[in-house]
Amino acid sequence: MINARNITKSVTTAEGSLTILDGINLSVGNGESLAIVGASGSGKSTLLGILAGLDVPTSGYMALAGKELTEMDEEGRAAVRAASVGFVFQSFQLLPGLNALENVMLPLELHGIANAEQKANEYLERVGLSHRLQHYPKQLSGGEQQRVAVARAFASEPDVLFADEPTGNLDSTTGAHIIELIFDLNSAQGTTLVLVTHEARLAQRCARQITLEAGKQIENVDLGSQTVESDTSNASSTNNTKAEA
Ligand SMILES: Nc1ncnc2c1ncn2[C@@H]1O[C@H](COP(=O)(O)OP(=O)(O)OP(=O)(O)O)[C@@H](O)[C@H]1O
Ligand SMILES: [Mg+2]
Repeated sequence: MINARNITKSVTTAEGSLTILDGINLSVGNGESLAIVGASGSGKSTLLGILAGLDVPTSGYMALAGKELTEMDEEGRAAVRAASVGFVFQSFQLLPGLNALENVMLPLELHGIANAEQKANEYLERVGLSHRLQHYPKQLSGGEQQRVAVARAFASEPDVLFADEPTGNLDSTTGAHIIELIFDLNSAQGTTLVLVTHEARLAQRCARQITLEAGKQIENVDLGSQTVESDTSNASSTNNTKAEA
């Protein structure tokens, strides 16, 4: 589903060139789950954006859903995203002029899904927001906005869900409920999951984790097979073909 080889990302700032990602290699097979962890500023959101085809690497190879993104233009990447990808942004990115129901319905309507309103209702109910359908984003709490964003990403039933801190603004009980929803989708629909999280209980539900430190991949922890190995040899990161897409 996802194959990233030797991804780097550099940007030009007032202080000169800044390398945000350096030599990232990872593969995620269909229906697998991967957690991306690491300190604030380590490059997690930047990597997630590149894996989802929202952003382009400075160098390297990136394929998603069998398509090589690194040889496409924005229009090509947008088509791959529309066909296969759901995204929960760290900043939610709800449309301020639409209420909760409309925010979830809009992408379904854009996809030409006939029962968009029914689907939107169903997923808002699953995130516990049936009583807030007509509320606009500024009338919702941070956690409620986050749940609308989760419902919106889920409602189109994507092949792969990318989520940046999906439980970051939620209390423990609501967060646990969202984690269940995410993994229900993974098991019921075979949805591939790539999650950025600071929350150990979410990261540990994923079959695999990668840790970023200052833009570099520092370890691969394979919790799926209950083996935890630190990537000290360097060879294991390049030979980690177990989950080849
Ligand atoms: N367009 C940009 N121009 C300059 N610097 C950037 C740009 N985008 C990201 N950065 C820098 O790159 C680093 C990685 O950013 P990123 O948002 O990927 O971090 P993160 O791991 O998601 O952090 P957090 O956990 O706080 O969300 C940060 O130091 C950030 O300031
Ligand atoms: Mg981030």
